[in-house]
Amino acid sequence: MAGGASALAIMALGVLLLAAPSECARAFFVFGDSLVDNGNNNYLMTTARADSPPYGIDYPTHQATGRFSNGLNIPDIISEQIGAEPTLPYLSPELHGAKLLVGANFASAGVGILNDTGIQFVRTVNIVRVSRQLHYFGEYQGKLRALVGASQATQIVNRALVLITLGGNDFVNNYYLIPFSLRSRQFSLPDYVRYLIFEYKKILMRLYDMGARRVLVTGTGPLGCAPAELALRSRDGECDRDLMRAAELFNPQLSQALEELNARYGDGTFIAANSFRVHFDFISDPAAYGFRTAKEACCGQGPHNGVGLCTAVSRLCANRDQYVFWDSYHPTERANRIIVSQFMTGSLDYVSPLNLSTALHIDASLMD
Ligand SMILES: *[C@@H]1O[C@H](CO)[C@@H](O)[C@H](O)[C@H]1NC(C)=O
Ligand SMILES: *[C@@H]1O[C@H](CO)[C@@H](O)[C@H](O)[C@H]1NC(C)=O
Repeated sequence: MAGGASALAIMALGVLLLAAPSECARAFFVFGDSLVDNGNNNYLMTTARADSPPYGIDYPTHQATGRFSNGLNIPDIISEQIGAEPTLPYLSPELHGAKLLVGANFASAGVGILNDTGIQFVRTVNIVRVSRQLHYFGEYQGKLRALVGASQATQIVNRALVLITLGGNDFVNNYYLIPFSLRSRQFSLPDYVRYLIFEYKKILMRLYDMGARRVLVTGTGPLGCAPAELALRSRDGECDRDLMRAAELFNPQLSQALEELNARYGDGTFIAANSFRVHFDFISDPAAYGFRTAKEACCGQGPHNGVGLCTAVSRLCANRDQYVFWDSYHPTERANRIIVSQFMTGSLDYVSPLNLSTALHIDASLMD
């Protein structure tokens, strides 16, 4: 009897869990590189990992999770904003049953738009390139259909919020990785950027074909100003000009491509998020945002604390909140919070054709 009652209670709980998402939080899917990876690379043999301290020092569990931050990353904070728990990495064994309704994070540190970006991180098993991330998205949808049926699965995917962050690695870990790289001998920078945008557009169209209808696409930051590049390429502490030129060519062409896609699929299907502008604000006037510096990483070694990886033996800053950069490339949680708040409520200079809070508002009003 007692056994029967608790089985009933468990079933009721199961029904509640299944019923919840259509009533409150929408699903959230994440694609891209280390800026948005929630830990997929922990499950791979690669050197591009953030799975040991002091990564995660300010995470709720105070443990390294594979996120490239001291605490929460951009997708985590977006999850907070939509009232959802953080997305699990797609490769996590915990991602099954009702957890599928939260969405999934397919991102993998080191990847780019191109398949040959990030090859230096590969050991025996690959990083999850974006074509594979999309393949996993298809696989995920099969699991979702098995859980809730075909029509509800389609609805969950159509109503989901999607985030994709790509492009930075195609410069720092490909074209500019070494002098006279293969790609830099093959393409002038403007031609390379055109090629990247052409390939990125195909990826975004594929996402649309797979059911994505509200996709936040972040451009690259001012790549030449990351502590890693200041340490590696800058003599006078000024942002590296080649990488700045790369970002300045890439970002406007990405926005243009998103406008073209929106003309075809409907306005606001793709939302351009101007990471360059937000980061540039930090660099121009760090104090205005409560930062002590935007040119030194909190965790690292060497000039700008920007050489090599952040590890247990690195120089670690005392107050993470005073730094824009946690390690040589990736923002602190506090910087991530400001970045997301600009995506949520910023003007058209930061996010276009509409900000995320407006988009979420419109979408909520369309849901029954
Ligand atoms: C990358 O590889 C995938 C799978 O092999 C392929 O479908 C895709 O076209 C490739 N992308 C580029 C830009 O070559
Ligand atoms: C952005 O969001 C805020 C808050 O929801 C809103 O008041 C503002 O008008 C929006 N700006 C644009 C340009 O959409």
